[in-house]
Amino acid sequence: MSTMVTIHPAPAGMQGAITLPGDKSISHRSVMFAAIAQGESHIRNCSGGGDNRSTIGAFRTLGVDITQSGTEVHVKGRGWSGLHPPPQTIDCGNSGTTMRLLSGLLAARPFLARLDGDESLRGRPMGRVIGPLTDMGADIVSESGGSRAPLQITGKPLHGICYRSAVASAQVKSAIVLAGLQASGTTTIWEPVRSRDHTERMLPSFGVHLDVRGTEISIAGGQELRAFDVEVPGDLSSAAFFMGAALIIPGSELHVRGVGLNPTRTGVLDVLRAMSGSITVQNLREMCGEPVGDLLVRPSPLHGIDMDGELVVRAIDEIPLVAVVAAFAKGTTTIRGAEELRVKESDRLHALAVTLSTLGARITELPDGLIIEGGHELHGGRVDSFGDHRIAMALSIAGLAGTGAVMIEKAESVGISFPNFYSLVRDLTGPTTTTGHA
Ligand code: S3P
Repeated sequence: MSTMVTIHPAPAGMQGAITLPGDKSISHRSVMFAAIAQGESHIRNCSGGGDNRSTIGAFRTLGVDITQSGTEVHVKGRGWSGLHPPPQTIDCGNSGTTMRLLSGLLAARPFLARLDGDESLRGRPMGRVIGPLTDMGADIVSESGGSRAPLQITGKPLHGICYRSAVASAQVKSAIVLAGLQASGTTTIWEPVRSRDHTERMLPSFGVHLDVRGTEISIAGGQELRAFDVEVPGDLSSAAFFMGAALIIPGSELHVRGVGLNPTRTGVLDVLRAMSGSITVQNLREMCGEPVGDLLVRPSPLHGIDMDGELVVRAIDEIPLVAVVAAFAKGTTTIRGAEELRVKESDRLHALAVTLSTLGARITELPDGLIIEGGHELHGGRVDSFGDHRIAMALSIAGLAGTGAVMIEKAESVGISFPNFYSLVRDLTGPTTTTGHA
């Protein structure tokens, strides 16, 4: 059953200190790399979101022994050759990262695997991984006859390729790296703009050697992984919603502790600061090869900005939040070069234009972005989250900062990345959220 959550304005703002669940991208990679490594790995602060549960479930289906206690995950890795033929379809749920990275990982395993997902995942483009993996010798068939899930992967011997990717996508890059590790020869990948680099940062800890030169990565085939214990930093993409609220609601003061600050992910900090947001970074440190820090966020008079290019790539998952913040800023915000948002968990450009205009925002949908004329009050209303976790969270912030209650349909979708989102909102803002059934 679909859940409707109502978010009421937060008159006293957002106050307090938070730590976030583990970063979703890093959690996926730590479970995957541990599963194909030799030996036992412990993962601390692993995200308990639906997407990461899909990855854990996928490796259990492949015969890997994974146990969980709260946010601690224990993986008994058995090396590449320890993966078993899956006795049933591998359910990737809503998770593009699970399906795309697994495609590369399974392309050279000597068995047949069928990968499927929910309706949203079945609608997302898989040709971007099928193409290069097929060039490497993989046998991947889309049952729909096009390039969408369900996918049937029959493991084959692979050979290295040189691949120039048209999209800046960490999922594509990581899928090719995972295939390249099992291929003969060397695999080289170029991307137009550097996408998140968690794969490149984490693999050396698992004993893998790769060469990274700017936006080019080379990897020699025939490499084994060995176990490593990972501590996952807090998820900046989840923190962003709270940061946005604290910037636009008077009276707020928000401390965010232990959050990942990898430069390929901090576009949202740059955007919010360029809008004149007061965000201070404190205690910058390193955790498992990833920069981590604490943030102090205070309300600020914001103005609109223009964003495109590299900044869009570095803030790709935070654009729903940026759109809401822009509606509260003075002047116009223009987001261009963001056509990738059309193939996320929902068509996010369309979802944002429809929902925010229902709430009174002046927003224009472009083929590759949005124009938002800020400074017009957002009122309450009933809106569809399109079953997309980041749209549901962005609309929640609109509800906290606006003048009337926002009723969000399919609000349970937040569980994909942030199961305790609404309770954390309540902790920081008071009794602003109520739950019902749509
Ligand atoms: C992710 C990469 C990005 C991002 C997604 C997570 C990853 O997707 O939007 O939420 O963990 O590799 P693309 O690779 O499609 O850009």
